[in-house]
Amino acid sequence: MAAAGSAIGLGNIWKFPYIAGENGGGAFLIVYLICVLLFGMPLIMTEFLIGKRSGRSAYGAFRELNGNNRWQWLSWLCILTSLLIMGFYFVVTGWCFNYLAEAFINVFNGLDMQALTDHFGQVTSNMPRMLLFSFIPVLLTAAVLWFDVNKGIERLSKVLMPLLLVIMFIMAGRVLTLDGSKTGLQFFFHTDFSKITPRVIIEAMGQCFFSLSIGMGTLVTYGSYMPKTQKITSSSLQIVILDTLVAILAGVIIFPAVFAFGFNPAEGPQLVFVVLPAIFEQMGWAWFFSVLFFTLLCIAALTSTISLMEMSVAFLCDATAETKHPLNRRKSVIIISAIVMVLVIFCLWSATGFTIFDKATACVMMPLGALGMSLFVGWRLTKKEPKIITEKDKGIKNWLWKVYVFLVRFIIPGAIVIIFLNSLEVL
Ligand code: PFF
Repeated sequence: MAAAGSAIGLGNIWKFPYIAGENGGGAFLIVYLICVLLFGMPLIMTEFLIGKRSGRSAYGAFRELNGNNRWQWLSWLCILTSLLIMGFYFVVTGWCFNYLAEAFINVFNGLDMQALTDHFGQVTSNMPRMLLFSFIPVLLTAAVLWFDVNKGIERLSKVLMPLLLVIMFIMAGRVLTLDGSKTGLQFFFHTDFSKITPRVIIEAMGQCFFSLSIGMGTLVTYGSYMPKTQKITSSSLQIVILDTLVAILAGVIIFPAVFAFGFNPAEGPQLVFVVLPAIFEQMGWAWFFSVLFFTLLCIAALTSTISLMEMSVAFLCDATAETKHPLNRRKSVIIISAIVMVLVIFCLWSATGFTIFDKATACVMMPLGALGMSLFVGWRLTKKEPKIITEKDKGIKNWLWKVYVFLVRFIIPGAIVIIFLNSLEVL
């Protein structure tokens, strides 16, 4: 559940619809689903395997399993990716907290699309306000890691995540009865193959990694906390299914509404913050649903930020464990939070910085991390210990294990390299 909480977040509800909107809707969706099938499940398994087998964070895992420092560059790539993601992710989480506060005091009442668009611009350019609302989730995340109340949070998210799904189904039901919603569904589900360009492919691959939290060691860290009896395969499958379901549902809500209200699907990062309040205004019980929805969105964002910060905190503890000044969990929480706050200020101050952090992590660093980890498991770990998973993880059938090894040795690294080469001009 913790890993599903990490996967399901702003990537599904905020990012997926706007990236799909900018990249041709249906064309993007089909490439995205192919990426999820090809990369998603095997790469989640790969990270869990590394974590569960080594029992270490992303800092120590490769060294522990390899017996030397040759793969240590992967660890540094992971921590850098985590920090950069937190820089912009907390900014967007701040937008969600701001919208939750505003939903409470009924600010959106009576606003039309244009007014909501202007409102988004005003809110996000208000520096002191954004500083306040971005630092709140940083402090909340730090508090969770400080008090070690993960169990509480995860118990809570077991109830709240399904509730989020229920609310999304209700919203989808309402949106589909709007006049003009069919055009939106066509946009999202109709695949025009001529629209599949290298740019669409690299964006879809990046979104797949981002949405499933792969390629940066978060799932290595969570894997290291897995009980021995936990099956890697079934956990990975559940995460992939849940995450994809939420992303598709977000598209089914956003695109019909976009077309019904005569809006442009390629509106960029502001898309859901304008469209969602507009839908609530149309739904009846607007106050109730908008407060509930933004509450759940903030919780979905928090379960992701918790995993991001946990990865960095565990990394720092692990990295300093054998030095003269070992850092305990609480000191690490303080240091990582301080670094994150500086990065958040940078992303608030520079819109270009925000976009670069976002694109560089999803489209370059996470695929590179995933490439490294699949090569590590495919050519190093499974050569050293060929029966590593069948012995330890009885859930997996022999033939499936063979397919997995083939994928991580050849198909996944090959696909990532080809996609990179094809996209050089985009990059
Ligand atoms: N998967 C999260 C989302 O879709 O919002 C974002 C994320 C969380 C990325 C944790 C990476 C990570 F390690």
